[in-house]
Parts: sequence; C-alpha cells; structure tokens
Amino acid sequence: MTEVNTMEADSNLPLLDVRAVSHDFDYPLFKDINLALNKGESIAIIGASGSGKSTLLNIFSTLLIPNKGEVYYNNKNIFNLSKNNLLKIRRNDFGIIFQAHYLFRGFNADENLKISELLSENDVDSNLLSSLNISHVMKQGIGELSGGQQQRLSCARVLVKKPKIIFADEPTGNLDFQTANEVMDVLFDYVQNNDAGLIMVTHETKIADKCDKVYKLNDYRLEQIK
Ligand SMILES: Nc1ncnc2c1ncn2[C@@H]1O[C@H](COP(=O)(O)OP(=O)(O)OP(=O)(O)O)[C@@H](O)[C@H]1O
Ligand SMILES: [Mg+2]
Repeated sequence: MTEVNTMEADSNLPLLDVRAVSHDFDYPLFKDINLALNKGESIAIIGASGSGKSTLLNIFSTLLIPNKGEVYYNNKNIFNLSKNNLLKIRRNDFGIIFQAHYLFRGFNADENLKISELLSENDVDSNLLSSLNISHVMKQGIGELSGGQQQRLSCARVLVKKPKIIFADEPTGNLDFQTANEVMDVLFDYVQNNDAGLIMVTHETKIADKCDKVYKLNDYRLEQIK
C-alpha cells in the first residue's frame, strides 16, 4: 500500500514527463524526444506513416522500453518500477486506445464493457454510451459493429476504467468529421472533469488542432507546432 501512496500526484508536477527518449529498431526512429503532459491537458502527435508515432505511444504508456531516456509518471521513472507497480499503473491509471482495437471478438459489445467493469470495479455510465452514440448496438457481436462503432466502443471501454492518462492511437481514424468531433468532445470532457491527461496520435490536423498542444514527429525529432 505504501508504495501505491507514493504514486499520488503532486499538483505542480506534470502527469507525464518524457526526457531525452531515443529509440531505434534496426534503424534510428527518433532521438532526444522531450514532452510534458499536465493535468487537464490534451496533446496531439502528428507525423507521416511509419515515422514512429505508435512506437512513441507504446513507450509513453509503459509497453516498450526505449533504448535511451526516461518516462516519469507522477515523478516516478516508470521503467525503474517493480513489475508489480508497473502493472498497477497499466491496469489502474493508464487507458490505452490502440490503433487496432483488440476488442474481444467472442463477446458482444455489452460483454466487452462488462469485462472492463469487472476489472476496474467501475460501472458503465449510460450517458457515456449515448454521447458516443453506441447505446443501440450493445447487443451486437464485435464483428457486427462498423469500424467506427468498434472505435467508439474502445473509447467507452477505456473510459470505464477512469484512467489518469488516456493514450489514443488514431481514435477517430474510422470516423466522419462530425462523429470524430463528438468522440473528441467526450475525451476532452473526461480529461477536464477528472484532472486527467490525453496524448493522441492522429492524421487529421483539424482534430489535432482541438488539442491544447500539437507536436509533429519529423526527421527523428518531436517538434512542438502549437
Ligand atoms: N516491434 C517492431 N520491430 C521492428 N520494427 C518495428 C516494430 N514496431 C514498429 N516498427 C517499425 O518502426 C517504424 C515506425 O512504426 P510505427 O508503428 O511507430 O509508425 P507510425 O508512425 O505509427 O505509422 P502509422 O501512421 O502508419 O500508424 C515502422 O517502420 C515499423 O515498421
Ligand atoms: Mg501508428
């Protein structure tokens, strides 16, 4: 328990602080990436396909250890934490909306959310389902949902956890502009009302522009453009 208490946020610190992160697979991907996410803040990352945006989100969200650099969550270097504490953060504090949805295909939409409810011990708020406009498809199997409905269900599933940080990889990629805007508003409202943070990857500059800050991954560097 004491270890968990030390994870409590200091209100002046960034939620997430990325310091001098570099990574390469067989070839360099990016160098000396720095970024700070404050409470209530949303950050968009744009960049060409293959530039490393998803890889960057994987590093920020504990899933991949970078070759160099550190990521601090509430002032703790996440890659120095015990496996157990890292798991706790991943399970309780971080909500990841993947580019591929990873919904459980053997279950219907409702059951997919039930799994999240069970794991997080939170209830699904029916307002959330109506603001994402998926209340009417909850009895359908995952294969019977459109790509955009699966995407919105993935957002709902992550929000049920009440995460402190949402990492979203192209959460509006399959959506028309109006629906994309509505989904973004749900995410922004959540972040503001819960002192949480959002880091999202997108190809759509108009969607990116709705975030507080925008960064572009280009030529191995992350450059702030807003
Ligand atoms: N586990 C891995 N092992 C080796 N190479 C990888 C791995 N994951 C990603 N890559 C490579 O790293 C590069 C960046 O991939 P990444 O998925 O981060 O790009 P992206 O910017 O998210 O692209 P997109 O916009 O198409 O989603 C690609 O060339 C990809 O092939
Ligand atoms: Mg990607």
